[in-house]
Amino acid sequence: MSPSSLKSRRVILAVTGGVAVYKAADLVRRLKSEEADVTVVMTEASRRFVSPLTFESLSGNKVYTDVFSDPLAHVSLPAGADLLVIAPATANMIGKLASGIADDMVSLTFLAFRGPVIFAPAMNWRMYGHPVVQRNIRTLRGLGLLEVEPEEGELACGERGVGRMADVGRIVEAAKGCLSKKDLAGRRLLVVAGPTREYIDPVRFISNRSSGKMGYALAAVAARRGADVTLISGPVALDPPPGADVVRVETSEEMLEAVKRHVREADILVMAAAVADFVPEDYSPVKREKGEGFVLRLRPAPDIVKAVSGTGERPFIVGFSAETGPDTAKARRKLEDKGMDFIVFNDVTVDGAGFDSDTNKISIIDREGIADYPLMSKEACAEVILDRCVELSG
Ligand code: C5P
Repeated sequence: MSPSSLKSRRVILAVTGGVAVYKAADLVRRLKSEEADVTVVMTEASRRFVSPLTFESLSGNKVYTDVFSDPLAHVSLPAGADLLVIAPATANMIGKLASGIADDMVSLTFLAFRGPVIFAPAMNWRMYGHPVVQRNIRTLRGLGLLEVEPEEGELACGERGVGRMADVGRIVEAAKGCLSKKDLAGRRLLVVAGPTREYIDPVRFISNRSSGKMGYALAAVAARRGADVTLISGPVALDPPPGADVVRVETSEEMLEAVKRHVREADILVMAAAVADFVPEDYSPVKREKGEGFVLRLRPAPDIVKAVSGTGERPFIVGFSAETGPDTAKARRKLEDKGMDFIVFNDVTVDGAGFDSDTNKISIIDREGIADYPLMSKEACAEVILDRCVELSG
């Protein structure tokens, strides 16, 4: 089973002195919730903003701040670490790292570390745009460090501009990307997610409870594992997954057209969308009056998977079967009937596996048999689904 790429990985979080230090506390919490083992090293200046005790309590590990009280820590710590994250990274620290100065816990740790390094600059916008800082950032990027670029917004000084430390979620995503396997590099994935809306008149539609979370998790994890990802999405309330090109659609007809347009360039199609099964037969171009009520006739929606699986140059196809009970017979029939390579079954009545939940309990059914998985996060489900894609699609 593939858990989060951060699980049990040893991450050093290096904190340098800017107001954004308070956000680094949240970063520790987020890394810990991915089950990473986090050790914090701090500069003298950063300790003026937040006490080491905060980081010690959140990480559950000793915090290293002084080179002389732990003279060998800057060598022993990096030797056992998988990733170094410098957040916030001040202009001063970026300058030191770019020129090889090593006179504090953070810069010493950096020089003694041989793994992937992420840095998240945080400073006033004029400082961030200064040619010297930009030159130093180019140097670090040229050496293979990954910059999680700062965002535009109101800065601590009251001015607006680019310099605010990246959202913690973006830093966690970058960390996951660094430690993720890249077994989908060079593969092109088309993920289709979310519900569709089938209009009765210009203001009313039929839809379903799909949140899109499973499909979005698949797109994010596939991009992290190196795939070139296009996500066709019905209307959902989710942020676009990092690293994926998003195509937005509303109706099943639009979804079908978008899939037909993009499927030619795909090696793998993951059909996680909850496409409507019925479309109103008589669309009214004007809003229907309240009146007495009326009979709404429905016709079947186009079957998107079938439209693709029947063609000559079809990609590897993964489908989903959400059911309201444990019986997998229907899912097996869909696997055959719709010409899929494997189908992901889930019983939406199981606690924690229903709509809008962040977890799911899935079984993967293919022609060889069935594999059941425990209740786990939708990202972890995405990892095992993509593992199976890699195994079966060659
Ligand atoms: O029959 P059911 O809707 O349960 O089939 C589920 C699978 O078929 C899913 O992968 C879903 O995305 C896909 N599907 C489709 N076109 C439809 C209905 C479902 O491609 N009209």
